[in-house]
Amino acid sequence: MSAVVVIPAAGEGLRLGFSMPKAFVPLAGSPLLVHVIRLFERIKHIQGIVIVSPPGYEDFCRNEIAEKNGFSKIVDIVPGGNKRSESVNNGLNVVSDKTDLVLIHDAARPFVTVTLIEKLMSSAVKWGAAIPAVPVIPTIKSENNRGFVIETVDRRNLREIQTPQVFKTELIKKAYAAGDIESEAGTDDAYFLEKAGIPVRIVEGERENFKITTKIDLRIAEMMIRKKKQS
Ligand code: CTP
Ligand code: MG
Repeated sequence: MSAVVVIPAAGEGLRLGFSMPKAFVPLAGSPLLVHVIRLFERIKHIQGIVIVSPPGYEDFCRNEIAEKNGFSKIVDIVPGGNKRSESVNNGLNVVSDKTDLVLIHDAARPFVTVTLIEKLMSSAVKWGAAIPAVPVIPTIKSENNRGFVIETVDRRNLREIQTPQVFKTELIKKAYAAGDIESEAGTDDAYFLEKAGIPVRIVEGERENFKITTKIDLRIAEMMIRKKKQS
């Protein structure tokens, strides 16, 4: 079986608020993106890694990320777009149709485990599309434009969705080709399959696989790594 991972890393990281793109922000001394690549380098069934770089940082990715760390599976570094979906689309365009599976994983999720990745890959082989999810914990309410509660949402079948999202190559390519890539609603990849009427299998995700979005997330990530080193 052949598999390629596309890593969208082109975001600005506005909510994190550093003066550099989020993928290059250091976590325990290495850029976030390096943590993520390191992990996929270790997975036997993944032959290729496509990096979607912040536009203008392609050489930086080649020299400071790929070469400096001696990564051997990076097959392409392509520039991203304004939206995550445009970035992913640029990455998908360089994946060969002959590849069996495409994984798409945020550069901002450094704690995904090999176990979860392998579980998702098996599920995608069986079902065509598999995404990780965890139950929504907080109480969720909707608010009207005057600042009052409209209603409480029944959270029992709500799920918080993570990456990697794993797809048979032909399905994800077809879904992206048919989709509105500029849609505000397309914040993950499975969205485009849903729109195309293609079933998406949900696999139990991991709480540790959270996305680093704000400064508090980065602090928690630092603490998690320190703890791991101690144990
Ligand atoms: N991403 C991307 N291209 C974009 C926007 C996002 O490749 N135009 C990537 C990010 O680099 C990240 C992942 O998609 O790995 C998830 O996006 P998010 O956490 O929203 O990152 P940013 O868009 O960088 O952050 P923010 O929304 O706070 O600016
Ligand atoms: Mg964003």
